[in-house]
Amino acid sequence: MGAFGNGTVDLQVDGDLATVVIDNPPVNAGSHDVRRGLLDAFAEIASRPGIRAVVLAGANGSFVAGSDLKEFGAPLGEPQLPTVLAAIEALTVPVVAALDGAALGGGFELSLACDGRVAAPGTVVGLPEVGLGIVPGAGGTQRLPRLAGLPASLDLICGARRIKAEEALTLGLVDAIAEGDLRAAASDHARRLGGKRRVRDLTVPAVEPAVLEEARRAAVKTGRGRPAAVEAARLACLSLDMPVDEALAEERRVFQAIRVSPEAVALRHVFFAEREAGRVGGLSAPATDVERIAVIGAGTMGAGIAYALLKAGLSVTLVEQNAGALEAGRGRVEGFLSGDVAKGRVTPEAGERLRARLSPSTDLAAAAASDLVLEAIFEDMDVKSQLLAELGRLAPPQTILASNTSYLDLDALALASGRPEQVIGMHFFSPAHVMKLLEVVRGRRTSDATLATGLKLGRRLGKTAIVAGVGEGFVGNRLYAAYRGQAEVLVEDGALPWQVDQALEAFGMAMGPFAVSDLSGLDIAWARRKRLAATRDPAERYVRLPDLLCEAGRLGQKTGAGWYAYEGGKRRPDPAVEALIAEDAAAAGRSRRALSDEACRDRTLAALVNEAALALEEGIAQRPGDVDVAFVNGYGFPRWRGGPLWWAAHEGRAAVLAGLDQVQAALGQGFRRGDVEALLDRIAG
Ligand code: NAI
Repeated sequence: MGAFGNGTVDLQVDGDLATVVIDNPPVNAGSHDVRRGLLDAFAEIASRPGIRAVVLAGANGSFVAGSDLKEFGAPLGEPQLPTVLAAIEALTVPVVAALDGAALGGGFELSLACDGRVAAPGTVVGLPEVGLGIVPGAGGTQRLPRLAGLPASLDLICGARRIKAEEALTLGLVDAIAEGDLRAAASDHARRLGGKRRVRDLTVPAVEPAVLEEARRAAVKTGRGRPAAVEAARLACLSLDMPVDEALAEERRVFQAIRVSPEAVALRHVFFAEREAGRVGGLSAPATDVERIAVIGAGTMGAGIAYALLKAGLSVTLVEQNAGALEAGRGRVEGFLSGDVAKGRVTPEAGERLRARLSPSTDLAAAAASDLVLEAIFEDMDVKSQLLAELGRLAPPQTILASNTSYLDLDALALASGRPEQVIGMHFFSPAHVMKLLEVVRGRRTSDATLATGLKLGRRLGKTAIVAGVGEGFVGNRLYAAYRGQAEVLVEDGALPWQVDQALEAFGMAMGPFAVSDLSGLDIAWARRKRLAATRDPAERYVRLPDLLCEAGRLGQKTGAGWYAYEGGKRRPDPAVEALIAEDAAAAGRSRRALSDEACRDRTLAALVNEAALALEEGIAQRPGDVDVAFVNGYGFPRWRGGPLWWAAHEGRAAVLAGLDQVQAALGQGFRRGDVEALLDRIAG
């Protein structure tokens, strides 16, 4: 028995078996120290002729969850990963990777340089690089096709797919699943191999050119046609006929160039911003665990939230005001569940267990036994205040009361409950069981323990949460309203709705603002405008067009017409809307003039960025990265641009500042170019 190690990598030698263990908590990310330690360990193994088999494993319940992305922004220090892999392949004895937890990115590539792979059940493997705007840089594009064939590899690499070991086994990427002692199974496997089985020496299975081309095309499409997907697909295809060393060198060359591209830098920014979002410094009290939750209101949102909670393993009491509404709500939850079962996302047995944890009721008192009560009833201050007051009386004093309100004053609701410290906003996005974004709203009197508990619940649901302060529309809807408002001003000034949508979709937005309005229904914003009418600043420029559409019964897709006309679910520009716009301008004595697509893009995004600067200054948004996280996860902003503020501080700076001047001219108030510039300087660092 002998031991050797550098703190992050440990080498144990027991007779003729060497075990190399990577120990870099929490998830064994591959770092410079890890690579150094591995290289030393393999050099030591090479110098000991008695060793016959090697197991490479991870401590902390995980193999290697990926490379340390913080290293990717600067020149990488030696030894780099390919050097380590070459050392494994240069050994004369078999090395078997013992995979558990996650083996992703560089971690999975490390295992592909081994002679065999044994995985614990449920281990997650994959090459997520393309999702981060880069390509695998340590042989992933060359070794994967040698094991799984090109079509499957293209799909895995360009789709940045993470798969379970069980699927990896059927693809040939792992050799066996170990039910018992993983390291023992790996050492047995190494002994059975007897000698080297280098993946690099295998031949890529032949594939029909037409089949390959179709697989390549589909994979690039899955990767949204972004440069990383195009390059990764090209590199993978080299494995068919280019000598492996040449192809590996080409892969490394592309990796080194692409990892510092603006797109890769932007995607890393979003990655880190998502990890940072939802963290609040200096909380004085820990989160409590919630297990039983009551959801009040089983409409669109309540049903989606209830289903998300059930899927996360919680018990849910679903309360409605009458039996009919309750049955409809239960039916909605059942619809989500049976959809997931039909698609194989939830097994029928798991579905049964999930159903058993749902308790529908028409009695509000049934909610009182919960750790947290979340209301998703009508967006009406009186109705919600009444409910919170009643919950304040019914529920034990420690029960947390959460509201899904989109716009209402959470502090007023908190006061109505009589326990403002235990009140929090949990603003989900529709559909609530699908959308990643969650705004956790911290009221003026929300206690630290309540906030911590809300954030912990969000994590349990797999949501990406940002913390918002109380203010009309919190962070997301407030900023979005500024952006959409400017889109409407553009239409008054001379653009057409479809032109604005097209300009923003070309920029990368999943959907233009007018298509979004039609989808969610124009009546929501209409009700809000009516509510705010009395307090509106008379100096504010008011666009009447959405009101005119609503008054004409054009409430969006659900009524067959809104900003667009709909036939058989298909959207098309509507001459009637064009006529309405022209009539409105004539009635107001306003002249319209053609606007460029750039102006449409620059003005809407400038309005968004300007509002973000205000929300940050007011402390409604915690940090610029939260705004980026919200727009990428909740509003269809292109992730590869890094979110609106990241984009504005880098590639979009000139466009945003030009847009800001035009918006200021159009609106006449509410704009402070200097503050926006200062913010962008701060982000660009
Ligand atoms: P909805 O109209 O679909 O559902 C509301 C449900 O609450 C109805 O089924 C109604 O019967 C029930 N309800 C009303 N008063 C009740 C009471 N006293 N006790 C029990 N049940 C009661 O509305 P939706 O769209 O689900 O919205 C609910 C809340 O979620 C609102 O505050 C809304 O602003 C917010 N929200 C809505 C989003 C959306 O996209 N629809 C997105 C995010 C938040």
